Amino acid sequence: MSNVLRARRRLDLLQVVLFFVAVLLVVVADAGVTSQYRRKLEATVEMPLDADVFRVPPGYNAPQQVRLIRLRQPIDQEGTAMIVSWVTANELGSSTVMYSEASPDPEKMELRAEGTHTRYDYFNYTSGFIHHCTLTNLKHSTKYYYAMGFGHTVRSFCFTTPPMPGPDVPFKFGLIGDLGQTFDSNTTLSHYEANGGDAVLYVGDLSYADNHPLHDNTRWDTWARFVERSAAHQPWVWTAGNHELDLAPELGEHVPFKPFAHRYPTPFWYSVRVASAHVVVLASYSAYGKYTAQWEWLRAELARVDRAATPWLIVLVHSPWYSSNGYHYMEGETMRVQFERWIVAAKADLVVAGHVHAYERSHRVSNVAYDIINARCTPVRTRDAPVYVTVGDGGNIEGIADNFTQPQPSYSAFREASFGHATLEIRNRTHAYYAWHRNQDGAKVVADGVWLTNRYWMPTDDDIN
Ligand SMILES: [Fe+2]
Repeated sequence: MSNVLRARRRLDLLQVVLFFVAVLLVVVADAGVTSQYRRKLEATVEMPLDADVFRVPPGYNAPQQVRLIRLRQPIDQEGTAMIVSWVTANELGSSTVMYSEASPDPEKMELRAEGTHTRYDYFNYTSGFIHHCTLTNLKHSTKYYYAMGFGHTVRSFCFTTPPMPGPDVPFKFGLIGDLGQTFDSNTTLSHYEANGGDAVLYVGDLSYADNHPLHDNTRWDTWARFVERSAAHQPWVWTAGNHELDLAPELGEHVPFKPFAHRYPTPFWYSVRVASAHVVVLASYSAYGKYTAQWEWLRAELARVDRAATPWLIVLVHSPWYSSNGYHYMEGETMRVQFERWIVAAKADLVVAGHVHAYERSHRVSNVAYDIINARCTPVRTRDAPVYVTVGDGGNIEGIADNFTQPQPSYSAFREASFGHATLEIRNRTHAYYAWHRNQDGAKVVADGVWLTNRYWMPTDDDIN
């Protein structure tokens, strides 16, 4: 063999090796991350009933479980109203809220609102008196002191109203789901508080009372006392999950969502506008087929979104549309098929889900090309599509979902079986920083963080794709 021929063969061999190296690099660069980090392996343990986080506030008939709830559009288009809810255990007492910009002293609060009350029976449980009182005509970006319990034990709190909606108004959301009331839940909430968000977008499954014998509704009470330290000072936007159903025909309980609906006066599908965000809340466990009330509402609501005024379109839903975890696999599929086309057409920025007790973030993908004869039924990268995140990792008693499908599908950018919470920090109309924090790290450590560019204002930017 001539030297020329040998040299040519060596060159051919080198080209083949380089080709495979290049292919490998492309595959590695394109693959998502399945984080090997694992939380500690001990079982999740519910905090005992005498834990300090569940303590009943001292004093006769003292208001407990205090929480703020945003009114929905179109009743409260601009965010100038807030529902205050609380429970009194001994007797009805007063449903009045006094509030003030000027004075933290309940005796000197000059504004007054009258609320209503409700209560319910659930098998062998009777709730306390659940009060709901709406404060109206609030100023934006203003600190208010408020108090309730007049006639018996008065408690007071404060909150700051959200800024007036506008295209470049910065705002920081906490994203929490499936919290429950274990020691891990407490870590999640503490880390969120340390990270300092302005409001929580809560994606469903609150107390997990239904995991207890007879759906022990006292666990609805303990849960609300547990989260009061945050929910009394900033609004949480509620999404209904399957653990809110409390449907138990064997107990004679035939009305779905009975405890949740009495305690959280919020619709199952609705929207709120907060700063520069338009937040759409969907209901995984209410009908969403064609011509249902939710279907009709969402179609009309997406037409009402004004991206010039509120550039960020965020969707909350309990059951995820894109999840590569074996736990609850494809449970959100029928809703995805029904609504994904609209959400992509609307150029939604972010879809936040819970339900699956792990963390996952998708690339920008869509799966809407399929038309039953073209076989194009695989998710593809789509600049218009939202990022999907699953944050059902709040830390509830059912434990972690450590069962990812293998291999990691191409739509999945990052996934990890750990408890934690996420934050979305909107900076202006074009940029927002999304971050996920696992509980095993310090509160401010970012385990998965990406800059998101707005799909309406920067539609051609590739951001995380
Ligand atoms: Fe769930």
